[in-house]
Amino acid sequence: MKNDIRKWFGELLGQMKDEKLREQVVDCWALCAQKGGWKSGEEVLQMPFTLLAPTHGVNLVEHTIAVTKGALGLYEAMRSTYKNFPFEVNTDWLIAGGILHDVGKLMETEKKPDGTFKKSYAGSLARHPISGGVAAAEVGIIPEIQNMIFCHAKEGEGAPQRIETVFIHQADFATFNPCVMKDKGLLIEKK
Ligand SMILES: [Fe+2]
Repeated sequence: MKNDIRKWFGELLGQMKDEKLREQVVDCWALCAQKGGWKSGEEVLQMPFTLLAPTHGVNLVEHTIAVTKGALGLYEAMRSTYKNFPFEVNTDWLIAGGILHDVGKLMETEKKPDGTFKKSYAGSLARHPISGGVAAAEVGIIPEIQNMIFCHAKEGEGAPQRIETVFIHQADFATFNPCVMKDKGLLIEKK
């Protein structure tokens, strides 16, 4: 599984300078895959990124990469445009938080015998931001990056956050909301 994880996220992991953190990110994905009972990387790639709306074939790994690139893009757009960028951003932490923001979904979601997916029992006890943040702590990931996982979704509303958490949240919802809107007939598309 670790080789699959390194391959899937190689482009992003390669941008990280902190080798220890890079290994912790891989360890965290591997730990959650094991806790969630996923048998192979192939099986993980079948998993839709959300159960809350049709994903039109986008899987969790693709979503994770897109969100991380989106969060980096939001930061880069501001950093390269503002004369003074007034916030402290750690890009290693941003990449780690992006790759891990939905890692808890490996425990929140399970495959049914018919090949479709449903919320697991563990998922009914703790949503993925909580289970993912706890798993990150288990592998020794620092609390600042745990904040990005714990607070990237509704759990973070009104809570103190790192700026990287804000970027990840916005990139996450830019990928998620159009799926929900399309499902509800609220996305305007050409006739
Ligand atoms: Fe997400």
